Amino acid sequence: MKKPFVTKDQIESIAKQYPTPFHIYDEAGIRRNARAMRDAFSWNPGFKEFFAVKATPTPAILRILKEEGCGTDCSSLTELMMSERLGFSTGEIMFSSNDTPPEEFAYAKKLGAIINLDDITHIDVLKDACGIPETICCRFNPGGVFEIADTGAYSVMDTPGDAKYGMTKEQLFEAYTRLKDLGAKRFGLHAFLASNTVNNAYYPTLAGILFSLAVEIKEKTGVSLSFINLSGGVGVPYKPDQEPNDIAAIGQGVKEEFEKILVPAGLSDVSIYTELGRFMLAPYGHLVTKAVHEKHIYKEYIGVDACAVNLMRPAMYGAYHHITVLGKENEPCDHKYDVTGSLCENNDKFAIDRMLPKIDKGDYLVIHDTGAHGFAMGYNYNGRLKSAELLLCEDGSVKEIRRAETPEDYFATLEGYWEA
Ligand SMILES: Cc1ncc(COP(=O)(O)O)c(C=O)c1O
Repeated sequence: MKKPFVTKDQIESIAKQYPTPFHIYDEAGIRRNARAMRDAFSWNPGFKEFFAVKATPTPAILRILKEEGCGTDCSSLTELMMSERLGFSTGEIMFSSNDTPPEEFAYAKKLGAIINLDDITHIDVLKDACGIPETICCRFNPGGVFEIADTGAYSVMDTPGDAKYGMTKEQLFEAYTRLKDLGAKRFGLHAFLASNTVNNAYYPTLAGILFSLAVEIKEKTGVSLSFINLSGGVGVPYKPDQEPNDIAAIGQGVKEEFEKILVPAGLSDVSIYTELGRFMLAPYGHLVTKAVHEKHIYKEYIGVDACAVNLMRPAMYGAYHHITVLGKENEPCDHKYDVTGSLCENNDKFAIDRMLPKIDKGDYLVIHDTGAHGFAMGYNYNGRLKSAELLLCEDGSVKEIRRAETPEDYFATLEGYWEA
């Protein structure tokens, strides 16, 4: 069973001030998890989590993570600007972007962000845009399929061979050699090979690959890496029957690979970086919405006041998000519903054929695990507007951390063009 971090009474009281739909985040949960993450890697003195801003680009959330020792991982100019405005500075920002405009490299360098090069041709783009910084990182793509050790057997997790990211091994050797010749002094290695892994073996398996590669890089190019970034990909159990990842076991697994591979190769000074989004935030966000319509045709539909504008994952790739009908947690799930939003798209459904308690108009629904890649993915199709974001503070109070969009926001980019 998934238990919401808010009760029906709380939501009824919050909704008097902030109408549904809204996203709400649990400060206590975010802090607890960030501390568990830090503890899991405390064996590595240089460890740092660079939170993937794309997952939840909300200043109040980034500020909480900053207080917990995290940096940011940015993929665009606006994410860099947000990090800058929140006081993240030299060494606290990773810039892991791809297909990068040259001016964004220049902006990142000005901020002292660690630039993670996605491609060997970007060395020249970076050199011409702003010169090669002293600290630089390269992204690796091993090609083929990525397999992960899983309880004795091996399971296929993802296909880097089809992914647009990163450099081949040969390109990496060439890149480090060139970057050294161009004046770089501190080097890192990065790879993101599987997404939303609910499996404690992902990071240790990836670490084994990257640590062995680090040894090869040292032998082939003379470059001793200063840091290895395991990137994102540690997942969360969206489904109630999935076993959550154990971050302490994951940290221990990475440590074992470190001691087995890097220490004997004289690379014991390597810092471990991560740039998780989902694991840091997803479970600590709910999309709260109200049942506003019911419809009985060939199927039973419940229409809610949220839509794919507020949470796109189910519409985009059929992602499962658990739903709790507040106040009916203990009632039998004996009704089969499609829970829909209002978009003129038949995939605007938060759940299909989902067994839930009987839903009445006015019931509040919590859509779980929306704290990462939730609000952030929203768009404005059908002229629908993005919701507010609220924070359930550690002391139990609630504050608004982003207001809802208004029609004026929607029309703002048309100002001056009505007569054009
Ligand atoms: C470069 C990079 N780093 C980190 C992340 C965060 O991934 P996750 O939220 O799965 O941890 C992403 C997500 O798309 C990414 O593209």
